[in-house]
Amino acid sequence: MNCVIENLADKVERAINYLPPIPIVMDELLKALNNEDVDINTLVKIISKDPSMSMNVLKVVNSAFYRLPYQVSAVDHALRLLGLKEITMICIACGVYKALAPSYNAQTFNLDEFWKHSVATGIIAKRLCKELKIGDQDIVYFLGLLHDVGKVILDRVAHDIYAIVIQTTYDESIPLREAEKRLIGESHDAIGGLIMKKWRLPPIFSRVAQYHHAVPDAPEEDRTIVAMVSLADQMARVRFLGFGGDMSGIVFSDTDAFRELETASPAITEMDIVKFIWDLEEVDEEVIEMERLLSS
Ligand SMILES: [Fe+2]
Ligand SMILES: [Fe+2]
Repeated sequence: MNCVIENLADKVERAINYLPPIPIVMDELLKALNNEDVDINTLVKIISKDPSMSMNVLKVVNSAFYRLPYQVSAVDHALRLLGLKEITMICIACGVYKALAPSYNAQTFNLDEFWKHSVATGIIAKRLCKELKIGDQDIVYFLGLLHDVGKVILDRVAHDIYAIVIQTTYDESIPLREAEKRLIGESHDAIGGLIMKKWRLPPIFSRVAQYHHAVPDAPEEDRTIVAMVSLADQMARVRFLGFGGDMSGIVFSDTDAFRELETASPAITEMDIVKFIWDLEEVDEEVIEMERLLSS
């Protein structure tokens, strides 16, 4: 068994090196954004070089998600309207989605369920951010959206075994990462952190992916934002299911994520968490819309 695990761990490491690189346009965009004097025209030129990226940006900008009162049909208009940070985040989401899309006919786990859980986590994280008045609402949604990408990679590397991993979480009521470690030797949080680094996304992306199941281990400066996504992840699993681990009977106020947020914003203790979760009805619609946009 150990030998099998070692081989798989090797395979995961090799697969990360062979995974499709992040689209060039995203790489250029992130580099340009590191330059403080970057102007909108430079960014428009970069995005416009990739027609499918431009199209995706416009689709997302015009979606129910942003509720704009009119149709936006040009990238520069979108940039002026939503700002550089928001548009870059949309490009990151579209780029990662594209890089992770399975090849034709490849067997995968239920990707629809996966993206639904991811979108729900992003939306809930953004709401928590607003409610608690901490963190950056523009970014936290996208951190939630991409927190679990390590699962897609593990499934791609070892699809048959990953199906057993998922089944084991239900049969034994254990957390997904425990089953992943036992059967594959690596867990999706560690793998997610590695891939974000490989893609050279802003460091907060790899930290959220790496520590969303181990909030106290996150570097101090990022711990609050990691806790916010972690709590949103657990709420998404209670509210919308999603796979991996039994969430029944969870007491949110006993979680590391809640305790971390409590120090950053005592307002969380005033929140009626049960009501907050059950009031998320309109999120259903946003989840379906965003999932459709990303996959089209
Ligand atoms: Fe996770
Ligand atoms: Fe998750």
